[in-house]
Amino acid sequence: MQSFAQLADQFNQFFDRDHFPSSPTSLYEPNRHFLQLGGKRIRPLLCLMGNELFSSIHPSTWEAATAIELFHNFTLIHDDIMDKAPLRRGVQTVHEKYGNNTALLAGDVMMIKAYSYLSKVPAASLPAILSLFNKTAIEVCEGQQLDMDFEKQVEVSFASYLEMIEKKTSVLLAAALMIGAILGGASERNQHLLYSFGLKLGLAFQVQDDYLDAFGDPSKFGKLVGGDILADKKTFLLIHALDTADTSARERLQYWQGRQDESKIAEVLSIYKSCQIDEWALQLKQQFLDQALSDLDQIAVVSSRKQPLLSLADYLIQRQV
Ligand code: IPE
Ligand code: IPE
Ligand code: MG
Ligand code: MG
Ligand code: MG
Repeated sequence: MQSFAQLADQFNQFFDRDHFPSSPTSLYEPNRHFLQLGGKRIRPLLCLMGNELFSSIHPSTWEAATAIELFHNFTLIHDDIMDKAPLRRGVQTVHEKYGNNTALLAGDVMMIKAYSYLSKVPAASLPAILSLFNKTAIEVCEGQQLDMDFEKQVEVSFASYLEMIEKKTSVLLAAALMIGAILGGASERNQHLLYSFGLKLGLAFQVQDDYLDAFGDPSKFGKLVGGDILADKKTFLLIHALDTADTSARERLQYWQGRQDESKIAEVLSIYKSCQIDEWALQLKQQFLDQALSDLDQIAVVSSRKQPLLSLADYLIQRQV
Protein backbone atom coordinates (compact mmCIF):
# COMPACT_ATOMS: atom_id res chain seq x y z
CA MET A 1 0.00 0.00 0.00
CA GLN A 2 1.13 3.48 -0.79
CA SER A 3 1.12 6.74 1.08
CA PHE A 4 -1.05 9.64 0.08
CA ALA A 5 1.91 11.51 -1.50
CA GLN A 6 3.17 8.49 -3.47
CA LEU A 7 -0.26 7.82 -4.86
CA ALA A 8 -0.70 11.48 -5.81
CA ASP A 9 2.66 11.41 -7.66
CA GLN A 10 1.74 8.26 -9.50
CA PHE A 11 -1.62 9.61 -10.51
CA ASN A 12 -0.07 12.84 -11.78
CA GLN A 13 2.36 10.84 -13.91
CA PHE A 14 -0.53 8.93 -15.43
CA PHE A 15 -2.78 11.96 -15.86
CA ASP A 16 -0.40 14.66 -17.09
CA ARG A 17 -0.40 13.84 -20.76
CA ASP A 18 -2.18 15.27 -23.73
CA HIS A 19 -5.80 14.20 -23.57
CA PHE A 20 -6.87 16.19 -26.63
CA PRO A 21 -5.97 16.43 -30.33
CA SER A 22 -4.11 19.47 -31.63
CA SER A 23 -6.81 21.07 -33.68
CA PRO A 24 -8.92 23.10 -33.50
CA THR A 25 -6.55 24.81 -31.10
CA SER A 26 -9.24 27.32 -30.20
CA LEU A 27 -11.20 24.47 -28.56
CA TYR A 28 -8.47 22.28 -27.09
CA GLU A 29 -5.99 24.91 -25.91
CA PRO A 30 -8.42 26.12 -23.19
CA ASN A 31 -8.68 22.56 -21.89
CA ARG A 32 -4.92 22.03 -21.93
CA HIS A 33 -4.42 25.35 -20.21
CA PHE A 34 -6.96 24.53 -17.52
CA LEU A 35 -5.71 21.00 -16.79
CA GLN A 36 -2.10 22.06 -16.48
CA LEU A 37 -3.08 24.38 -13.62
CA GLY A 38 -3.46 21.20 -11.60
CA GLY A 39 -5.84 21.55 -8.71
CA LYS A 40 -5.70 19.23 -5.72
CA ARG A 41 -6.87 16.15 -7.63
CA ILE A 42 -8.49 14.63 -4.62
CA ARG A 43 -11.25 12.75 -6.46
CA PRO A 44 -8.89 10.48 -8.38
CA LEU A 45 -7.03 9.86 -5.13
CA LEU A 46 -10.30 8.84 -3.50
CA CYS A 47 -10.93 6.42 -6.37
CA LEU A 48 -7.44 4.92 -6.09
CA MET A 49 -7.63 4.69 -2.31
CA GLY A 50 -11.09 3.14 -2.53
CA ASN A 51 -9.57 0.53 -4.76
CA GLU A 52 -6.47 -0.07 -2.68
CA LEU A 53 -8.59 -0.57 0.40
CA PHE A 54 -9.64 -3.94 -1.03
CA SER A 55 -6.88 -5.08 -3.39
CA SER A 56 -3.68 -4.00 -5.07
CA ILE A 57 -4.53 -1.28 -7.55
CA HIS A 58 -6.39 -2.69 -10.54
CA PRO A 59 -4.83 -1.22 -13.75
CA SER A 60 -8.13 0.20 -15.02
CA THR A 61 -8.54 2.23 -11.82
CA TRP A 62 -6.06 4.75 -13.26
CA GLU A 63 -8.42 5.23 -16.18
CA ALA A 64 -11.51 5.47 -14.01
CA ALA A 65 -9.70 8.00 -11.79
CA THR A 66 -8.78 9.99 -14.90
CA ALA A 67 -12.43 9.97 -15.99
CA ILE A 68 -13.47 11.34 -12.61
CA GLU A 69 -10.87 14.11 -12.63
CA LEU A 70 -11.83 15.14 -16.17
CA PHE A 71 -15.49 15.14 -15.21
CA HIS A 72 -14.70 17.32 -12.19
CA ASN A 73 -12.77 19.78 -14.36
CA PHE A 74 -15.72 19.97 -16.74
CA THR A 75 -18.00 20.88 -13.81
CA LEU A 76 -15.58 23.61 -12.71
CA ILE A 77 -15.44 25.25 -16.15
CA HIS A 78 -19.24 25.36 -16.32
CA ASP A 79 -19.58 26.29 -12.62
CA ASP A 80 -17.43 29.36 -13.18
CA ILE A 81 -19.74 30.51 -15.97
CA MET A 82 -22.77 30.03 -13.72
CA ASP A 83 -21.10 31.74 -10.75
CA LYS A 84 -19.61 34.51 -12.92
CA ALA A 85 -16.31 33.74 -11.23
CA PRO A 86 -13.27 35.70 -12.41
CA LEU A 87 -10.55 33.54 -10.84
CA ARG A 88 -9.81 29.84 -10.43
CA ARG A 89 -6.58 28.09 -9.42
CA GLY A 90 -4.94 31.48 -9.13
CA VAL A 91 -5.61 32.61 -12.70
CA GLN A 92 -8.38 33.96 -14.92
CA THR A 93 -11.26 31.50 -15.39
CA VAL A 94 -11.69 29.75 -18.73
CA HIS A 95 -14.76 31.77 -19.74
CA GLU A 96 -13.04 35.05 -18.84
CA LYS A 97 -10.00 34.12 -20.88
CA TYR A 98 -11.66 32.48 -23.88
CA GLY A 99 -15.32 33.57 -23.76
CA ASN A 100 -18.48 31.82 -22.58
CA ASN A 101 -19.16 29.89 -25.76
CA THR A 102 -15.72 28.34 -25.91
CA ALA A 103 -15.86 27.57 -22.19
CA LEU A 104 -19.16 25.74 -22.71
CA LEU A 105 -17.72 23.64 -25.53
CA ALA A 106 -14.41 23.05 -23.77
CA GLY A 107 -16.38 21.73 -20.80
CA ASP A 108 -18.57 19.57 -23.04
CA VAL A 109 -15.54 17.99 -24.71
CA MET A 110 -13.92 17.41 -21.33
CA MET A 111 -17.03 15.58 -20.12
CA ILE A 112 -17.22 13.41 -23.24
CA LYS A 113 -13.53 12.56 -22.83
CA ALA A 114 -14.32 11.56 -19.25
CA TYR A 115 -16.85 9.03 -20.52
CA SER A 116 -14.37 7.67 -22.99
CA TYR A 117 -11.86 6.92 -20.19
CA LEU A 118 -14.63 5.46 -18.07
CA SER A 119 -15.59 3.03 -20.82
CA LYS A 120 -12.16 1.37 -20.46
CA VAL A 121 -13.08 -0.40 -17.21
CA PRO A 122 -13.52 -4.20 -17.47
CA ALA A 123 -16.76 -5.21 -19.20
CA ALA A 124 -17.98 -7.06 -16.09
CA SER A 125 -17.86 -3.85 -14.00
CA LEU A 126 -19.00 -1.42 -16.68
CA PRO A 127 -22.79 -1.58 -16.16
CA ALA A 128 -22.54 -0.89 -12.41
CA ILE A 129 -19.92 1.83 -12.85
CA LEU A 130 -21.69 3.55 -15.72
CA SER A 131 -25.00 3.56 -13.91
CA LEU A 132 -23.39 5.04 -10.79
CA PHE A 133 -21.54 7.64 -12.86
CA ASN A 134 -24.72 8.67 -14.71
CA LYS A 135 -26.72 8.93 -11.49
CA THR A 136 -23.94 11.06 -10.01
CA ALA A 137 -23.71 13.35 -13.04
CA ILE A 138 -27.48 13.96 -12.95
CA GLU A 139 -27.36 14.75 -9.23
CA VAL A 140 -24.52 17.23 -9.77
CA CYS A 141 -26.73 19.06 -12.32
CA GLU A 142 -29.60 19.06 -9.82
CA GLY A 143 -27.35 20.39 -7.06
CA GLN A 144 -25.98 23.12 -9.31
CA GLN A 145 -29.51 24.20 -10.27
CA LEU A 146 -30.57 24.29 -6.59
CA ASP A 147 -27.48 26.36 -5.81
CA MET A 148 -28.58 28.93 -8.41
CA ASP A 149 -32.26 28.81 -7.40
CA PHE A 150 -31.25 29.58 -3.82
CA GLU A 151 -29.43 32.76 -4.90
CA LYS A 152 -32.88 34.23 -5.60
CA GLN A 153 -34.56 32.87 -2.46
CA VAL A 154 -34.40 34.92 0.72
CA GLU A 155 -34.93 32.05 3.15
CA VAL A 156 -33.17 28.76 2.62
CA SER A 157 -33.28 26.17 5.38
CA PHE A 158 -30.20 24.42 6.65
CA ALA A 159 -31.72 21.12 5.49
CA SER A 160 -32.10 22.49 1.93
CA TYR A 161 -28.50 23.70 2.02
CA LEU A 162 -27.36 20.21 2.99
CA GLU A 163 -29.39 18.62 0.22
CA MET A 164 -27.88 21.08 -2.28
CA ILE A 165 -24.24 20.54 -1.25
CA GLU A 166 -24.70 16.79 -1.10
CA LYS A 167 -25.81 16.85 -4.74
CA LYS A 168 -23.41 19.38 -6.17
CA THR A 169 -20.32 18.13 -4.32
CA SER A 170 -20.61 15.05 -2.10
CA VAL A 171 -21.97 12.57 -4.59
CA LEU A 172 -18.91 12.86 -6.84
CA LEU A 173 -16.52 12.20 -3.94
CA ALA A 174 -18.69 9.27 -2.87
CA ALA A 175 -18.90 7.87 -6.41
CA ALA A 176 -15.13 8.17 -6.85
CA LEU A 177 -14.64 5.99 -3.77
CA MET A 178 -17.32 3.52 -4.76
CA ILE A 179 -16.00 3.09 -8.31
CA GLY A 180 -12.62 2.25 -6.79
CA ALA A 181 -14.31 -0.23 -4.46
CA ILE A 182 -16.23 -1.90 -7.30
CA LEU A 183 -12.99 -2.33 -9.27
CA GLY A 184 -11.35 -3.70 -6.12
CA GLY A 185 -13.98 -6.43 -5.81
CA ALA A 186 -15.47 -5.10 -2.56
CA SER A 187 -18.67 -6.64 -1.20
CA GLU A 188 -21.87 -4.62 -1.73
CA ARG A 189 -21.98 -3.79 1.96
CA ASN A 190 -18.44 -2.44 1.90
CA GLN A 191 -19.15 -0.50 -1.31
CA HIS A 192 -22.14 1.20 0.30
CA LEU A 193 -20.32 1.99 3.52
CA LEU A 194 -17.54 3.59 1.50
CA TYR A 195 -20.11 5.57 -0.52
CA SER A 196 -21.67 6.81 2.69
CA PHE A 197 -18.22 7.74 4.06
CA GLY A 198 -17.73 9.83 0.88
CA LEU A 199 -21.10 11.57 1.22
CA LYS A 200 -20.31 12.70 4.76
CA LEU A 201 -16.74 13.63 3.89
CA GLY A 202 -18.09 15.64 0.95
CA LEU A 203 -20.32 17.65 3.28
CA ALA A 204 -17.32 18.49 5.48
CA PHE A 205 -15.35 19.33 2.32
CA GLN A 206 -18.01 21.76 1.04
CA VAL A 207 -18.34 23.35 4.47
CA GLN A 208 -14.61 24.09 4.29
CA ASP A 209 -15.02 25.33 0.70
CA ASP A 210 -17.75 27.74 1.79
CA TYR A 211 -15.73 28.83 4.80
CA LEU A 212 -12.65 29.55 2.66
CA ASP A 213 -14.75 31.46 0.15
CA ALA A 214 -15.38 33.99 2.90
CA PHE A 215 -12.25 33.74 5.04
CA GLY A 216 -9.55 32.23 2.81
CA ASP A 217 -6.17 33.88 2.39
CA PRO A 218 -6.39 35.65 -1.00
CA SER A 219 -2.71 34.89 -1.66
CA LYS A 220 -3.32 31.13 -1.41
CA PHE A 221 -6.99 30.54 -2.15
CA GLY A 222 -6.89 30.90 -5.95
CA LYS A 223 -10.53 32.04 -6.19
CA LEU A 224 -12.12 35.42 -5.49
CA VAL A 225 -12.54 35.68 -1.73
CA GLY A 226 -16.08 36.87 -1.05
CA GLY A 227 -17.43 35.53 -4.35
CA ASP A 228 -20.24 33.63 -2.59
CA ILE A 229 -21.25 36.77 -0.68
CA LEU A 230 -21.39 38.80 -3.91
CA ALA A 231 -23.51 36.12 -5.61
CA ASP A 232 -25.95 35.77 -2.68
CA LYS A 233 -25.06 32.09 -2.27
CA LYS A 234 -26.97 30.47 0.53
CA THR A 235 -24.04 28.99 2.38
CA PHE A 236 -24.04 27.72 5.96
CA LEU A 237 -22.39 31.02 6.91
CA LEU A 238 -25.35 33.10 5.76
CA ILE A 239 -27.91 30.63 7.11
CA HIS A 240 -26.21 30.55 10.51
CA ALA A 241 -25.85 34.34 10.61
CA LEU A 242 -29.54 34.84 9.76
CA ASP A 243 -30.44 32.34 12.50
CA THR A 244 -28.28 33.81 15.23
CA ALA A 245 -27.68 37.51 14.52
CA ASP A 246 -29.55 40.23 16.38
CA THR A 247 -32.36 42.07 14.59
CA SER A 248 -30.26 44.91 13.22
CA ALA A 249 -27.54 42.57 11.86
CA ARG A 250 -30.22 40.36 10.32
CA GLU A 251 -31.75 43.40 8.62
CA ARG A 252 -28.34 44.39 7.27
CA LEU A 253 -27.88 40.89 5.84
CA GLN A 254 -31.30 41.04 4.24
CA TYR A 255 -30.55 44.51 2.89
CA TRP A 256 -27.50 43.22 1.05
CA GLN A 257 -29.29 40.36 -0.70
CA GLY A 258 -29.53 41.16 -4.41
CA ARG A 259 -27.28 44.22 -4.12
CA GLN A 260 -23.82 44.74 -5.52
CA ASP A 261 -21.76 47.39 -3.86
CA GLU A 262 -18.10 47.84 -3.04
CA SER A 263 -18.70 47.49 0.68
CA LYS A 264 -20.96 44.40 0.54
CA ILE A 265 -18.23 41.81 1.13
CA ALA A 266 -16.61 43.64 4.05
CA GLU A 267 -19.89 44.34 5.76
CA VAL A 268 -21.27 40.82 5.44
CA LEU A 269 -17.93 39.39 6.62
CA SER A 270 -18.02 41.50 9.72
CA ILE A 271 -21.53 40.25 10.55
CA TYR A 272 -20.36 36.66 10.01
CA LYS A 273 -17.47 37.23 12.41
CA SER A 274 -19.79 38.62 15.04
CA CYS A 275 -21.83 35.37 14.91
CA GLN A 276 -19.01 33.05 16.01
CA ILE A 277 -18.95 31.54 12.57
CA ASP A 278 -15.53 29.93 13.12
CA GLU A 279 -16.86 27.81 15.95
CA TRP A 280 -19.91 26.83 13.95
CA ALA A 281 -17.77 25.85 10.94
CA LEU A 282 -15.50 23.72 13.12
CA GLN A 283 -18.45 22.06 14.77
CA LEU A 284 -20.10 21.27 11.44
CA LYS A 285 -16.91 19.85 9.93
CA GLN A 286 -16.30 17.74 13.00
CA GLN A 287 -19.85 16.43 13.03
CA PHE A 288 -19.67 15.31 9.38
CA LEU A 289 -16.16 13.94 9.81
CA ASP A 290 -17.28 11.87 12.80
CA GLN A 291 -20.18 10.47 10.77
CA ALA A 292 -17.81 9.68 7.89
CA LEU A 293 -15.33 7.97 10.19
CA SER A 294 -18.03 5.84 11.72
CA ASP A 295 -18.88 4.50 8.24
CA LEU A 296 -15.21 3.87 7.49
CA ASP A 297 -14.86 2.09 10.79
CA GLN A 298 -17.55 -0.42 9.84
CA ILE A 299 -15.85 -1.44 6.59
CA ALA A 300 -14.65 -4.99 6.97
CA VAL A 301 -10.94 -4.71 6.17
CA VAL A 302 -7.99 -4.51 8.55
CA SER A 303 -7.75 -1.02 9.97
CA SER A 304 -4.18 -0.41 8.78
CA ARG A 305 -5.52 -0.37 5.19
CA LYS A 306 -7.71 2.62 6.09
CA GLN A 307 -4.81 4.88 7.00
CA PRO A 308 -4.46 6.69 3.61
CA LEU A 309 -8.18 7.56 3.63
CA LEU A 310 -7.90 8.86 7.18
CA SER A 311 -5.00 11.11 6.21
CA LEU A 312 -6.82 12.36 3.12
CA ALA A 313 -9.97 13.10 5.15
CA ASP A 314 -7.91 15.04 7.64
CA TYR A 315 -6.23 17.08 4.93
CA LEU A 316 -9.51 17.85 3.17
CA ILE A 317 -11.15 19.56 6.06
CA GLN A 318 -8.07 21.52 7.13
CA ARG A 319 -7.03 22.64 3.67
CA GLN A 320 -6.48 26.35 2.97
CA VAL A 321 -6.76 25.95 -0.83
C1 IPE B 1 -13.92 22.77 -6.11
O1 IPE B 1 -13.31 21.54 -5.98
C2 IPE B 1 -15.37 22.57 -6.35
C3 IPE B 1 -16.10 22.01 -5.22
C4 IPE B 1 -16.84 20.97 -5.32
C5 IPE B 1 -16.04 22.67 -3.93
P1 IPE B 1 -11.78 21.39 -5.57
O2 IPE B 1 -11.51 22.22 -4.37
O3 IPE B 1 -11.48 19.94 -5.47
O4 IPE B 1 -11.04 22.03 -6.83
P2 IPE B 1 -9.58 21.74 -7.42
O5 IPE B 1 -9.74 20.66 -8.44
O6 IPE B 1 -8.68 21.37 -6.30
O7 IPE B 1 -9.18 23.03 -8.09
C1 IPE C 1 -19.16 23.88 -7.10
O1 IPE C 1 -19.45 24.51 -5.91
C2 IPE C 1 -19.63 22.49 -7.24
C3 IPE C 1 -19.38 22.00 -8.60
C4 IPE C 1 -18.45 22.45 -9.39
C5 IPE C 1 -20.22 20.96 -9.10
P1 IPE C 1 -18.78 25.96 -5.77
O2 IPE C 1 -19.33 26.90 -6.76
O3 IPE C 1 -18.81 26.34 -4.33
O4 IPE C 1 -17.26 25.61 -6.16
P2 IPE C 1 -16.11 26.68 -6.27
O5 IPE C 1 -16.03 27.36 -4.92
O6 IPE C 1 -16.47 27.62 -7.37
O7 IPE C 1 -14.88 25.88 -6.54
MG1 MG D 1 -18.25 28.27 -7.99
MG1 MG E 1 -21.08 27.09 -7.86
MG1 MG F 1 -17.17 27.44 -3.36
